[in-house]
Amino acid sequence: MANKSVWSDNRFWQRSATWVTGFAAILLIWLTFDTSAQISMGTDKDIQNKVTKRVPGPTVINYKITYERSPKRGLEVPIIGGNDGKGNSLFQEKEKFFGRDDWSEKEARAMLHLGKLGSQAKNCMDCHTLLGNGAYYAPDLTKSWLDPMWEDGTMQAIIGGTLGKELSKEEAMAEFLQHPELYPTHARQMPNLGITKKEAIGIVAFLKQMSSIDTNGFPRNFGKMKGAINGK
Ligand code: HEC
Repeated sequence: MANKSVWSDNRFWQRSATWVTGFAAILLIWLTFDTSAQISMGTDKDIQNKVTKRVPGPTVINYKITYERSPKRGLEVPIIGGNDGKGNSLFQEKEKFFGRDDWSEKEARAMLHLGKLGSQAKNCMDCHTLLGNGAYYAPDLTKSWLDPMWEDGTMQAIIGGTLGKELSKEEAMAEFLQHPELYPTHARQMPNLGITKKEAIGIVAFLKQMSSIDTNGFPRNFGKMKGAINGK
């Protein structure tokens, strides 16, 4: 009995299992609260107070959003309303969204809600990826608002040219969503999903807000963008 090894002692293993299980349970509870705090949406007050939230509040649609390299983090982050030169948002530069840059929190929230329901009802994830969920049949939508194709005016020119009028980015995107079959730009074509004008406006708001979410530099397909890693 005296020279029995600790490794063959049942009680040692029982105690170890209890400690490991207990520690893992506490860690999981802590991670759950930490994740909830990280992913809960900010408010208009946060934006007014220039507080950067991982998921900015609905009124972020009133601001100019860019995707720029943060020297500190070594990856691209959404910059809202201008860059302080160190990769932090200034929350200053506004941008008209469907003719206004003063959408209230309530109005913006209602638009985002409609856009989110629309994206679920029409199952965009069948073909696209949103925040890591979905398919790669069609382009990733997580940062589609910032896609160079829309940023540099290519899509506005194609769609506006067809309609014979000048369109802002959000107007062009809403038009594309309602009649994608008229504007093929890709080897694959998006089908007409019967999206109404109101739904399209909501979906564009949803896409704009999604592009403002700090996703730790994911996805990394913005090499063409000015200021991005590998950018020209
Ligand atoms: C049946 C597959 C399919 C479904 C469902 C679908 N799309 Fe698409 N979508 C595509 C394809 C294919 C393209 C690329 C076509 C092109 O660029 O001309 C595309 C392109 C786009 C683009 C332009 C991409 C970019 O990076 O600029 C946007 C925005 C878009 N879709 C939004 C949506 C939204 C929002 C939904 C849901 C309401 C949706 N799509 C549902 C297939 C789909």
